[in-house]
Amino acid sequence: MTAEQAAPASAAQIAVHWREEEYRHPPARFIAQANAGDPRILERFGEDHFPECFKEYADLLSWDAYWHTTLDTSNAPFWRWFVGGRLNACYNCVDRHLPSSRNKAAFIWVPEPETERTEAVTYQELYRRVNEFAALLRDFCRVRVGDRVTFHLPMVPELPVSMLACARLGVVHSEVFGGFSGSACGDRIADSGSHILVTMDGYYRNGELIDHKAKADEALATARKLGMEVDKVLVWRRHPGRYASASPMVDGRDYFVDDLIKEYRGLLVEPVSMPAEAPLFLMYTSGTTARPKGCQHSTGGYLAYVAGTSKYYQDIHPEDTYWCFADIGWITGHSYIVYGPLALGTTSVLYEGVPTYPDPGRPWRIAERLGVTIFHTAPTTIRMLRKLGPDEPAKYDYHFKHMTTVGEPIEPDVWRWYYEVVGKREAVIVDTWWQTENGGFLGSTLPALQPMKPGSCGPGVLGIYPVIYDEDRNVVEAGSGRAGNICIRNPWPGIFQTIWGQPERFVQLYYEKYCRNKDSTDWHDWPYLAGDGAVQAPDGYFRILGRIDDVINVAGHRLGTKELESASLTVAEVAEAAAVPVVDELRGRVVEMYVALKPGIAASAEIEAKVAGAIETEIGKIARPRSVWIVPDMPKTRSGKIMRRVIAGISNFADVGDVSTLANPEIVDDIRHRVQGVKVSRGEVPRELSSQEVEEITAFGRAEG
Ligand code: WT7
Repeated sequence: MTAEQAAPASAAQIAVHWREEEYRHPPARFIAQANAGDPRILERFGEDHFPECFKEYADLLSWDAYWHTTLDTSNAPFWRWFVGGRLNACYNCVDRHLPSSRNKAAFIWVPEPETERTEAVTYQELYRRVNEFAALLRDFCRVRVGDRVTFHLPMVPELPVSMLACARLGVVHSEVFGGFSGSACGDRIADSGSHILVTMDGYYRNGELIDHKAKADEALATARKLGMEVDKVLVWRRHPGRYASASPMVDGRDYFVDDLIKEYRGLLVEPVSMPAEAPLFLMYTSGTTARPKGCQHSTGGYLAYVAGTSKYYQDIHPEDTYWCFADIGWITGHSYIVYGPLALGTTSVLYEGVPTYPDPGRPWRIAERLGVTIFHTAPTTIRMLRKLGPDEPAKYDYHFKHMTTVGEPIEPDVWRWYYEVVGKREAVIVDTWWQTENGGFLGSTLPALQPMKPGSCGPGVLGIYPVIYDEDRNVVEAGSGRAGNICIRNPWPGIFQTIWGQPERFVQLYYEKYCRNKDSTDWHDWPYLAGDGAVQAPDGYFRILGRIDDVINVAGHRLGTKELESASLTVAEVAEAAAVPVVDELRGRVVEMYVALKPGIAASAEIEAKVAGAIETEIGKIARPRSVWIVPDMPKTRSGKIMRRVIAGISNFADVGDVSTLANPEIVDDIRHRVQGVKVSRGEVPRELSSQEVEEITAFGRAEG
């Protein structure tokens, strides 16, 4: 790459490199059956109908008591939706469907081994299982309304059963992604103050039965160090009656659910009627500091929002077979595998394992076998399936009407493969932009009414009014070609209520930057800062450029640089650590770690392995860095700040910009030679970066000032 090509693209330059993609129009067959087929819906959700427009979403639910105030802004920005309303989320997802759909599958669970049978859990069966587990939680664990219960569960039906059982009791669940380490789970147990952990002995991943219970012991040890004592560990068994973990069960602490639950057989638990603003669950995510943020989601607003967006954006009809190929351990799974689809009474598919096991035709076999009509996944999965099995979809007789991409920007080229090969040109695609904090979609096209444009998510969704601001609070106009910080001007029912235990941080991180008046109770004064850079085309469609904070999006998962760095610092030899993103063909971004050692300690492959191991232990396998570079010193400013953008530039073979003002400019060439030398010899030279990627890499770490 020449220096000129690699020069940092200013926001204005992005326009020069911008290639507008052609629209694609939804198939007529899709339009004819769409839930949102009448353009008047766009008017109904126009700004002059806000906030009452969201009554339309809330009316999809069954309320025990109707609300008196749609939106209460008196304690801005702690918005309260549907105040005075009461409902139960479990009742809405399960009980109310029994009269019409008792024997319809709520979930179809596909185990990873193809030799194991697919399991259909009917609404009736789900009702029974949820009631029994709720009875166990109430009577054996003595949990009460408002208590928190942490889950560390894989993709098995026991996960939604556990969630819905908590929801039935008004207990706040906090699911930690099964792939996270025991230690990461322990942090979240302590942060949420959970006395109960629900886990499983093992699960299948890539053909292997993983020992998962072992992580529970680590989690409890970590939680204890942080001052939190867990009383009971409930262990579901992947094969009831057959324990698959090498970790011993601790007497008086660990219990097999399949044993215990026999005592609760047939018990029914009345769903607890909860205020609309009662918390339903916590979902942890990463940010600028090492401490994860427990995003607290509400009952009424959240459920209304995921039901409404599932109906109009996922186009779920009760008779659809809907497969969201994500993990319930992330917000996508909570909203669009469990709560949204079940609120609408549809059939939702759960798959236990990896997309390419035992071969990259697996997803399409599942789709064919189950007659999946709606398919939902992330660009990283699409890229992997394209790479490993570009011709597989054509071999299977399935027909999607609708497909979703979510979680990271999708390259137009990858989009086209998704559309043409996976969707067979028969399916409409929505590119949904949103975040853990948001409950549901923020940006997307309405599938029957707004044409698709590869690589752009589209306009704000119904009732969401986005705006792009520059650093000086000026509006960046659509079509200006300039990038800025995308914000949402208004509150919406799915927005999280607070960061668990850190209300000041909630205000500071999401509202402070563009707040016009801190004493104001008018929502117009409180734009929500999403933390993404974006540009808006003349047609109003947004293109999301990526995070503006120190977050690396690996395969659609948010990893905080500070978390990675503090994990590295647990290695005794390490003095300093810095994490940077590297562009990767499959996973979007991968992590590379730079570490400097304490005086007198020599670099070794062993220390590199220790750092990678520490990250895996502290966070999980997904965070494992591709490389650990031991460097004599980090490039630093005169005030001692590590310049992440410089090492990010080196790792990506991009220009590092002006380094003359650094305290130690000579180190830059030294690091470049070492790192790029090794990379060249390993064949790890990335393809030429787009201007958008260069912009991201060379700005990395700017949140540190
Ligand atoms: C970040 C949120 C809730 C979805 C799962 C990820 C990026 C998300 C898109 C998209 C471009 C996207 C953003 C966002 N992102 N969707 N369609 N196009 N970027 O949730 O872990 O909270 O991550 O993912 O950067 O801020 P998350």
